Amino acid sequence: MAVYPDYLDLGPLDRAAGVVRLPGSKSISNRTLLLAALAVGRTRIHDLLASDDVDRMLEALGLLGVKLSGPQQGVVTVEGCAGRFTQRRADLFLGNAGTAFRPLTAALALSDGHYKLSGVPRMHERPIGDLVDALRGLGANIHYLGNEGYPPLEIRPATMGSNAKVQVRGDVSSQFLTALLMALPLAGRRITIEVVGELISKPYIDITLNLMARFGVKVERDGWSSFTIPANSRMVSPGDVFVEGDASGASYFLAAGAIGCGPVRVEGVGRGSIQGDVGFAGALAAMGARIDMHDNWIEAAAPLDGRLRAFDLDLNAIPDAAMTLAVAALFADGTSRLRNIASWRVKETDRIAAMATELRKLGARVEEGTDFLTVTPPAGSRLADGAAIDTYDDHRIAMCFSLAALGGVTVRINDPKCVAKTFPDYFGQFDEVTWNSTVPVIAIDGPSASGKGAVAQRVAEQLGFHYLDSGSLYRLVALCALRERVDLKDADSLGGIARQLPVHFTGGRILLSQEDVTDAIRAEAVSTAASEVASFPSVRQGLMRRQQAFRHAPGLVAEGRDMASVVFPDALLKVFLTASAEERARRRYKQLIEKGFDATLTTLLQDIRQRDARDTERSVAPLQKSVGAQIIDTTGLSIQEVVARILQWFESASHKAPSR
Ligand code: DC
Repeated sequence: MAVYPDYLDLGPLDRAAGVVRLPGSKSISNRTLLLAALAVGRTRIHDLLASDDVDRMLEALGLLGVKLSGPQQGVVTVEGCAGRFTQRRADLFLGNAGTAFRPLTAALALSDGHYKLSGVPRMHERPIGDLVDALRGLGANIHYLGNEGYPPLEIRPATMGSNAKVQVRGDVSSQFLTALLMALPLAGRRITIEVVGELISKPYIDITLNLMARFGVKVERDGWSSFTIPANSRMVSPGDVFVEGDASGASYFLAAGAIGCGPVRVEGVGRGSIQGDVGFAGALAAMGARIDMHDNWIEAAAPLDGRLRAFDLDLNAIPDAAMTLAVAALFADGTSRLRNIASWRVKETDRIAAMATELRKLGARVEEGTDFLTVTPPAGSRLADGAAIDTYDDHRIAMCFSLAALGGVTVRINDPKCVAKTFPDYFGQFDEVTWNSTVPVIAIDGPSASGKGAVAQRVAEQLGFHYLDSGSLYRLVALCALRERVDLKDADSLGGIARQLPVHFTGGRILLSQEDVTDAIRAEAVSTAASEVASFPSVRQGLMRRQQAFRHAPGLVAEGRDMASVVFPDALLKVFLTASAEERARRRYKQLIEKGFDATLTTLLQDIRQRDARDTERSVAPLQKSVGAQIIDTTGLSIQEVVARILQWFESASHKAPSR
C-alpha cells in the first residue's frame, strides 16, 4: 500500500493517455460484505476493494462474529450468519465510512444485541436522524450518545412491532433508504418503505436493489416513492460475487483523458455497469470529449478541436463524480453550472464550500449556492501556479484536484493519504498515465551490452533526471509470458500483458505485483524471449504510454530501441552507443558471472551476434541509429568518458533550446 508524505506536488503536466485498471467499487464492496454477512451460506467475493472504508466494514463484521478469510488470490470469503450476528455486544468504530455506518445501524437496530457505533469527528457531524426515526418507527431502541440526530449511537434490543409501513426521508442521503432496504429482510415480514421528499442519488438505490436481487431478495417498487420487502424474504448467498471497478474513481482518469489529449482507458466498468457514476462519461461527452464505451471499459479523449465546452447540468444522480466535473470546468470555454448537488453539504466534508474555496485558489471565479456551484475558469484557462489544495480529509477532493496539474501548473495536494478511503494507489496510477511533453528527454540506444544501461543511469544520476530502462519493460512482458505459459507468438495475449503489466519501479528495484524481479528479468531465457516479444506491434503499442508517462520534471533519460524515433521523437538529445560484438560479449559475460549466472564467452558471442541480426533485420523497431542521433563507439572508452561526452552534448543542446 502506498505511503504518502504530508503533501504531494504534482505537475506541471500537459498530457494524459494510457490504461488504468480500476480498484473495486466502494459502494459495491461494502454492500456486498454486509449482504454476505447476513445471508445464509458462504460467499466468495472477488476483487473486493482494499481501502480504509472497506477495512472499517471488515473490522466491524469481525467484531460481530462473522467469519471472514482472505484475501487469497483476490478472493475474500464470508461465512453468512443467516441474519443473526453471533456477538450480541460490540463497540464498533467506523471511521468516516458512511457506507458502513448507515447500513450497520439499520441491521443492528433490528437485531437483539447491545451495540455502540462511533466514527471520526466528521462522522459525528453527518446526520443520521432520519434513519434513526424510521428505525424507531419499527420498534428499534436507539440512543444518541452525543448530539441529537448524529452519531455516535447506542443500540439495544428492538421491541419489534408489527408495522407494515415505514417512512424515510430521501432528500438528505440515499444511504438511509439503502440501509433500510438491506436490513428489513431481517424483520421477516412484508414491510413497505415510503420515501418522503424527492429521492436523491437514485442510481445508488439501483446498486442496492441489484445486489439484493443477487442475494435472492426481490424488492417490489413503485417508482422511486415506495419499496416493499416481501414477506419471508431471506438473503441467500449466490456463491461467487464479482465486484465491479469503481466508477467514481474512473471519473478522474476519464476527465484526464478529456483534458490531456488522451485517450485514457479505464478497465473494470463499462456499459454493463450497475453503478450510476458511469453516467459521468455522458457528462464529459456533453463537454465535447470523445467517449468510447464497451462492456467492461470506457475510454475518453479530448474533443478534436481540443476545446472543452462549458456545461449546465443537473448532477443529482452522480454527486460523487460531479466533483470531478467541477475541476474539469476549469478547462472549459466558459461558465459551467453544477445543479442539484445539495447532498455535497453532508458528505465527507461540506463539499460545496470546500470545492468553492479550492477552485478559487486556482484562479477560478466561483459562485456557490445551497445546492449549486458555478465555475468560471481564469482567462484562457491559465490556472494559478503553485496552488496548495487543502483536502479536508476528503478523498475525492484530493483526487479531483490532481487534474488541475494538467493545466501546465504545479499543484500541491495537502494530506494526500486521504485517498486511502477508496483508492489507496490513486497517485501512483495518476502518475502512470500523465506526463509533461515539454520536459527534456535524453534518448540513449545501442545494441545489447553496448553499455547503454550503465551510461544512461549515470547520466540520469548526474542531472537528477528520471530514468527509464525500456528494455526492462520488454523483459517483464517476456517474464510474465514465460510464467503464464503464453505462446510467444500470440500477439493479442502478449499485447494484453504489456498493457496491464502490474509493475512498479522503486528505489532502483523492479517490482512485479510486489515481487522483486530485478534480477529475474536478466536471465538469458528472458533476454531471448524479450527480443521475440519486442517484435510485436501489439506489445510495443501496449507499452508506449507507460513509457511516455516517465516524462516528469526536471527531465528524463530514456534508454532503449525506438526511444528517439517513436516514443520520444521530440527528445532534446539522441545518442546511439556502439561497441564491437567481442567487447559486448566480454561485458555481458562479466555481468552474468558477477550475478552468479552460468555463462560461457563463446555462446554469449554467438547469442549477441544472433540477437543483433534479429534486432537489426526485424521490420518492427529495428536496431538502428535514429535520424539525428549522435554516435559514440564505446569500445575503448570508460563509462565516465561516455557519460562526460553526453553531458557536454546535453548542455549545448539545452543552450540551443532556451525555451525549455
Ligand atoms: O536493452 P535490453 O537488452 O534490456 O532489451 C531487452 C529486449 O527488448 C531486447 O531484445 C531489445 C528489446 N527492446 C526493444 O525492442 N525496444 C526497447 N525500447 C527496449 C528494448
